[in-house]
This record gives sequence, structure tokens and C-alpha cells, in this order.
Amino acid sequence: MKFTVRDFRPADFLTLWQLDQSCFPPGIAYSQHELTIYIRRKTSFTLVTESGGPNGQLASSEPDSRIIGFLVAERAKTAGHIITIDVRADARGRSVGSALLNAAEQRLRSSGCEKIRLETAVDNLAALSFYKKHGYSVARAIPGYYSNGVDGLLLEKDLLSPTASE
Ligand SMILES: CC(C)(COP(=O)(O)OP(=O)(O)OC[C@H]1O[C@@H](n2cnc3c(N)ncnc32)[C@H](O)[C@@H]1OP(=O)(O)O)[C@@H](O)C(=O)NCCC(=O)NCCS
Repeated sequence: MKFTVRDFRPADFLTLWQLDQSCFPPGIAYSQHELTIYIRRKTSFTLVTESGGPNGQLASSEPDSRIIGFLVAERAKTAGHIITIDVRADARGRSVGSALLNAAEQRLRSSGCEKIRLETAVDNLAALSFYKKHGYSVARAIPGYYSNGVDGLLLEKDLLSPTASE
């Protein structure tokens, strides 16, 4: 599948929110208000994956239907934070999530971040496997992290390690 990674445009917002609703259960999915706050933070950036490639044929006349994934991340002085990464169910397993994460890591690394942190639910086995594949390891458990009572795990990746960009 051909796809490109680009920066967020305001017209993407509703599609991204709907995608987030479809990716996470109630209590973990963001409200429109929460997602707006994360996307608009001065220190954050949002990447969007579109199918079709830059010169490819559109699958549909609806521009929003080309959006198959997105990622929101923020940077502090030396550490980056992945706020969310969402891939549409019918586009999973085709490296869309990897392309988003690699692009975010590259951007965070070039802005001086030495490590990346993120939280994920203990029962999100697909995400745990995905992050493990990308070199993240569990730093600690966060009991009751999610508002539906599910525990979280704080995962970290050292961007300075020689294997970090593999
Ligand atoms: C987690 C998620 C982002 C992965 O996106 P993706 O585009 O399907 O991932 P990729 O195709 O890039 O997968 C890369 C690797 O991750 C691992 N992986 C991804 N999905 C997996 C799954 N369902 N089960 C086991 N391993 C998986 C595999 O090792 C895979 O490598 P492989 O294809 O060589 O086997 C996607 O499943 C998703 O959006 N889930 C819902 C939202 C979510 O849970 N986000 C993360 C928590 S914040």
C-alpha cells in the first residue's frame, strides 16, 4: 500500500477524532476537547498518514477517507512523548504505524530529545508488541492510569543508543 506522512492540517481534525474513537474504548479514546488541546500545544506536533501517495489515484472522492493514521507527539528539552498513535483498522499490519513512529522519532531526535516516553494499556497486546519491535522497554507500571480503571505501562526508548535508529 502506498502512503505518505505529512503534517496535520486543521481540516483533518474531525477525521482524526473519529479515528481515535474507533481505535480506543470509552475511557481511553479522547474527547474532541482533549484532542484539540494536545494537537494545539505549542510543544506538540501531529503527523498524518494518507493513502495513495503524492501522485497516486485517490481511492475515493472524499478527501478524508485517504487518512489512514495519525500520531501526536510533544517535545520537552531532552525527552519526547508520544501522546497517541492511531492506525485505521483496515490499514493495520502494513507499516503505517511504523512510518509514523519513525518520522516522529526522527523529528524528536533532531530537536535534541535523548529519549522518548509513552504510556499504553497493559492489555493492549498489539501496541506492546509494536513498541517492543521499535526498541521500547517498560520503565514502570502505572496502576489505574486510564479512566476506565485499566493499568498503564510507561515505556521508554533511548534515542542515543547505537541501535535506536535501526
Ligand atoms: C499499534 C498500532 C499503531 C500498530 O500500527 P500498524 O500500522 O498496524 O503497525 P505496523 O504494521 O507498522 O507493525 C510493525 C510491527 O509491530 C508489531 N505489531 C503490530 N501490530 C501487531 C499485532 N496486532 N500483533 C502483534 N504484533 C503487532 C509487529 O512486530 C509488526 O512487525 P511485522 O509486520 O514485521 O510483524 C495499531 O495496531 C493501532 O493503531 N492500534 C490501535 C491504537 C493503539 O493501540 N495505539 C497504540 C497505543 S497509544
